Amino acid sequence: MALIGTDIDLAQSFLKNGQLVGIPTETVYGLAGNALNPESVALIFETKNRPTFDPLILHTSSFERVGEFVSDFPEELKQLAKKFWPGPLTLLLPRKPIVPDLVTSGLNRVAVRVPNHPLTLTLLEQLEFPLAAPSANPFGYISPTQAAHVEAQLGEKIPYILDGGPCAVGLESTIVGMEDEEIVIYRLGGLEIGEIEDVVGPVKVKDHSSSNPAAPGQLDSHYAPRKPFLLGDLKTLIAKKQAEGFDFAVLSFSDAFVQMPQEKQIALSPSRDLHEAAQNLFSAMRKLDETPVQVILAELMPETGLGRAINDRLRRAAVKG
Ligand code: TXA
Ligand code: MG
Repeated sequence: MALIGTDIDLAQSFLKNGQLVGIPTETVYGLAGNALNPESVALIFETKNRPTFDPLILHTSSFERVGEFVSDFPEELKQLAKKFWPGPLTLLLPRKPIVPDLVTSGLNRVAVRVPNHPLTLTLLEQLEFPLAAPSANPFGYISPTQAAHVEAQLGEKIPYILDGGPCAVGLESTIVGMEDEEIVIYRLGGLEIGEIEDVVGPVKVKDHSSSNPAAPGQLDSHYAPRKPFLLGDLKTLIAKKQAEGFDFAVLSFSDAFVQMPQEKQIALSPSRDLHEAAQNLFSAMRKLDETPVQVILAELMPETGLGRAINDRLRRAAVKG
């Protein structure tokens, strides 16, 4: 079992010692280690059971400190950083040699972000090194949005979890970089495309590359519950599973199903608010995965704003194999 608390000094001492700590961010909880210490970085991959071809995000406390790790910062990306940091934006920038190969999986760019959570920002300000932090879940499983989620899956393997409460955004950061002169989104996330386009104009979305590690977290099957997860029109799916005699649970955007037991259904946002739906998504998927049913039935959100990123996660959860 990990200790869980709000002691920044204690978190700091574990990190300085090369150990890993669960940290809160506004998006999801991270599994953090000293990004400049290859042994700590290796421990992250091992603890998560993550393949080393899937690189990590480097977290730092301010825009000003990014220069320590990157050799170039294109003007357009600077504008995004100034507008959205601290926040759910990760930028791919050419790395300096100080960044260990293992952090970037040998790629020329390093992913950098300034997370927006008071505890973690204070921790990062106090540390002399940046933190490498993937989401604090075993590879391929649903990302954690509460300290208890981290404890449930990695508690045996790490000494401390910094408890910052439930994550305000609930979806991972949006990953952005440049190819030639073009701005590219590699992972849809907590920062909406529209907000990015308001600052830099039209962008290209390149978020689906199956098993290609050039844009990794984009492995098709990801964010996945252990139970079969079926996406479609809920009324049709429910009728079908009932007829087939399956025991199922339902994840809806806003609808309640009066004829079904309360504990076998979750509506992400009864008022149809996509921010609220994003906040609730991963904990709802976890809860239903732990409910004793054979299959989870779910529906897509409207494809607007955060709905696009939510739907991306739902589709990946539904892919098997
Ligand atoms: O919101 C977030 O981004 C959370 C919190 C903890 O900050 N972190 C997170 O990390 O989601 P992770 O490791 O679960 O996902 C990071 C994604 C991976 O898909 C990885 O492949 C991609 O970022 N990535 C990291 N470095 C990259 C690089 N140099 N080039 C391309 N993709 C990269
Ligand atoms: Mg992840």
